[in-house]
Amino acid sequence: MADIYTSKEDEATISDILFKGLRVKAPKWTVLRLALAHSLKMPSAPDVDLERGVAGGGEYDLQQVSGENQGRSSAGQQQDYTDAICGLLSVHANQDLFANKAEFRLHLQRHIRRGLREFRRGWREGHDFYQFLYQELCAAAERETGQKESDFAALLIDALREIAVQGEIIAAQNGPRITRYQIRLEDPNHLDRVRRGLEKIAFTLGLQKQGVFLAETGMPKIIGLDVPRPRSTWHSVTCQQLLGWIDKEAAETVGLPLWPGVSVTGEPVSFDLSQQPHLLVAGTTGSGKSICLHSLLISLLVAVPGDRLNLLLIDPKKVEFAPYGKANSKRIEVITDIFAASSRLAKLVEEMEARTSILERAGVRDLAEGRRKGLLTLPYIVVFVEELADLVMQAPEAEEHLIRLAQKARASGIHLILATQRPDARTLNGLLRSNIPSRIALTVQKATESKIILDETGAERLTGSGDMLVRLSGQTIIRLHGVLVTQDDSAAVLRGEGRN
Ligand SMILES: Nc1ncnc2c1ncn2[C@@H]1O[C@H](COP(=O)(O)OP(=O)(O)OP(=O)(O)O)[C@@H](O)[C@H]1O
Ligand SMILES: [Mg+2]
Repeated sequence: MADIYTSKEDEATISDILFKGLRVKAPKWTVLRLALAHSLKMPSAPDVDLERGVAGGGEYDLQQVSGENQGRSSAGQQQDYTDAICGLLSVHANQDLFANKAEFRLHLQRHIRRGLREFRRGWREGHDFYQFLYQELCAAAERETGQKESDFAALLIDALREIAVQGEIIAAQNGPRITRYQIRLEDPNHLDRVRRGLEKIAFTLGLQKQGVFLAETGMPKIIGLDVPRPRSTWHSVTCQQLLGWIDKEAAETVGLPLWPGVSVTGEPVSFDLSQQPHLLVAGTTGSGKSICLHSLLISLLVAVPGDRLNLLLIDPKKVEFAPYGKANSKRIEVITDIFAASSRLAKLVEEMEARTSILERAGVRDLAEGRRKGLLTLPYIVVFVEELADLVMQAPEAEEHLIRLAQKARASGIHLILATQRPDARTLNGLLRSNIPSRIALTVQKATESKIILDETGAERLTGSGDMLVRLSGQTIIRLHGVLVTQDDSAAVLRGEGRN
């Protein structure tokens, strides 16, 4: 009997990583060990469901995963890490797993399978797997505290001097990934030099593609410079935090509140989708679009009562929204087939027309007013599209339906959230774009893409992984760090949803 079981899907991930990611000849358990390390970095406990559904997958024994009974190598190197791993898992689970070997194996399996699942999610073929691993597992602390921090401040002053700006740092505030340096300029006329010199400052600081952003402080002569710190010092914004914000504001919650993340200095930011009224989420592959969509979905599912909201999730990639489809919730509909999605959107256009007549008869301007006055009980409908390009390239009529909805659906309480990797003219018809005034830009490759999404450059200088620039209709652009929603987080919310 084996000690650890994996599913068929896990096995596919393992071979993808070996052959397309690591591209070295290595045994399969190498990937299992990486997956274990990855899972142990996550503070939450892995889902117990990870014991089930493993028929037809792979089988491994402890000797392969932890080097059990391997003793030392001929070079005298320790090879058996079973006790060390059991210790780590015991601490993680807050339970003595040395006393119960079967339980230890179960925990080990859950962690390995969660790690594999996270690889599946986070790494895509075509992305550099080593870069992914570096970022995920072993980013070394380069600049952390004390003396080094003051060296960095001196470097920043030097960088300013190089663009002929004199100033002194009067405060430094650490956000989740950025330090905001408040700098008093000797000559306020130098503000323009700073604005034009941001790229040079980033270059002098050795930040490569990540940029330094100028922030307003609201104080005379004082500017803020937002400088990204090394990844090892970042704090993720967790789903737990998101649930806390929703809890706190639950009483005042109206419309369709979304909490996409926190500001550069760490304060939660929320907005009401029903006021926007549609949203485009765009960014390069791996920039965090899907995770952003999950945070928006969780915001709605948790904050909006069941009878006030229906969700239509269109997922041509067939992966991201799969768990929502299995949740057994009456208010969630998941469609993965492109042509089924297109005809569902056609029906939605009809529904919109029908709702428009209902609003007219009730004598109200929009659904919100009708609900407020107790005249209407219709639910809001929010449509999520995961990868707009896949949908509109294969089903051009779907694009026409989306345009109709974007133009007219606002009053009837139907709202769109469209995500795409390719924010170009082919994916994003001008009419569609102009009717979706609110935008979230995650990291993009080129300044021109940032312009397409936001009408401004900047998104090409973000730090990746859920770092975003958000433009809500009629407002100035704000920068947010997104909530990191894991599959376990979605699963936990959906378990509650299934009971509704
Ligand atoms: N808010 C976040 N905080 C920390 N890390 C994040 C965040 N959002 C995304 N990431 C990291 O980036 C990885 C990729 O995210 P995601 O799958 O959402 O990208 P994507 O833009 O949907 O990519 P693709 O276009 O290939 O589907 C995640 O697995 C995670 O490691
Ligand atoms: Mg995605």
